Amino acid sequence: MQNVIEVTKDLYYLGGNDRRLALFESAFPIPRGVSYNSYLLTDEKTVLFDTVDSAVSEVFFENLSHALGGRKLDYLIVHHMEPDHSATFLRVVETYPEVMVITNQKVAMMLKNYFPFSGKNVRLVKEGDSLNVGKRNIAFVLAPMVHWPEVMMSFVQEDGILFSADAFGTFGALGGSIFADELPFERDFLDDARRYYFNIVGKYGAQVQSVLKKAAGLPIKTICPLHGPVWRRGEDIAWYLGKYDTWSKYLPEERGVVLFYASVYGHTQNAAEILGLELAKRGVPVKLYDVSVTHVSVLLSEAFRFSHIVFAATTYNNGIFISMENLLSDLKAHNFQGRKYALMENGSWSPQAGGLMEKTVSEWKNMEKLGETVTVTSSVKEETRGKIEALAAAIAEDYKN
Ligand code: FEO
Repeated sequence: MQNVIEVTKDLYYLGGNDRRLALFESAFPIPRGVSYNSYLLTDEKTVLFDTVDSAVSEVFFENLSHALGGRKLDYLIVHHMEPDHSATFLRVVETYPEVMVITNQKVAMMLKNYFPFSGKNVRLVKEGDSLNVGKRNIAFVLAPMVHWPEVMMSFVQEDGILFSADAFGTFGALGGSIFADELPFERDFLDDARRYYFNIVGKYGAQVQSVLKKAAGLPIKTICPLHGPVWRRGEDIAWYLGKYDTWSKYLPEERGVVLFYASVYGHTQNAAEILGLELAKRGVPVKLYDVSVTHVSVLLSEAFRFSHIVFAATTYNNGIFISMENLLSDLKAHNFQGRKYALMENGSWSPQAGGLMEKTVSEWKNMEKLGETVTVTSSVKEETRGKIEALAAAIAEDYKN
């Protein structure tokens, strides 16, 4: 049965939710599911903005048919070719053979690569072009690498509606309201929105900044992303744009320490917990994570969130323990930068993790080491405890300044 929701006058939400998918993009756990959003504008012409993942195709086609109400589909605007939004493209053009596909050259090439699609009935647009659909004009804004190279956005000029592709999306299925102003977004979605941002487009801060500059010139009243809720209240949009500005500049969102440890038999954990306690005694907020049990997508997001970061790892096969090595590799891949950091290592006969972590982290942009690396030899002793306290004092001093 259709489940169409009116967004604004003549604009309808046609998307659906997947709460069964374990790993988004085969990589990111989504225990709260995800929504795949698509929208239909019914002006003198009818315009579909993107399609959906095949997981929600049934409700999507029912929604589309219902929202069209017997009218033909005139335009399909394709903003992004990742299959979570394009998997049902071919079925749309086969179901509505007169539809004109509006997109850019890179999307058009990918359509032919993904599908046995003739390429007929395609109108190519570029930055600054617009499409008249009756009472409204839709302008096109290219947004390469937010999140793939072909990505574009579109803007309904008369209504101030931005169709933002992946940008401003989030993990987390929608249930009940689809509007951010009717949800406890900060309580229920912000952690997932941050994790979505840093894991999906975190590497491309410069490109996100470029899109934010274009967005600043638009009188945006509503943002319709491809995942997560619709934004329609001015102060909420300003708040969320502010988050994107902070995130894409690689600036910390909060002052505080995130302490990541990789421990095999609990002694590195013991050192990390002592450091956590010593920081708390000095008034520094701390979050601890065992990197062997928390998914790396969460760790990545938390690393970007805080101003200070501690890596504590045991030595393993003359290297850094596997889960910490994996985290460092992921941080590097996402352009992690601009943080104060400190190190702790453990090793029973030849501690090496500290030096190797420092070699890795010091190559990232604008990273500043605080204090001396604390070395634990098998287990924490009184003299090690003194060194942990000294490290806590060095971090606290920097935090307070
Ligand atoms: Fe939601 Fe890049 O696709």
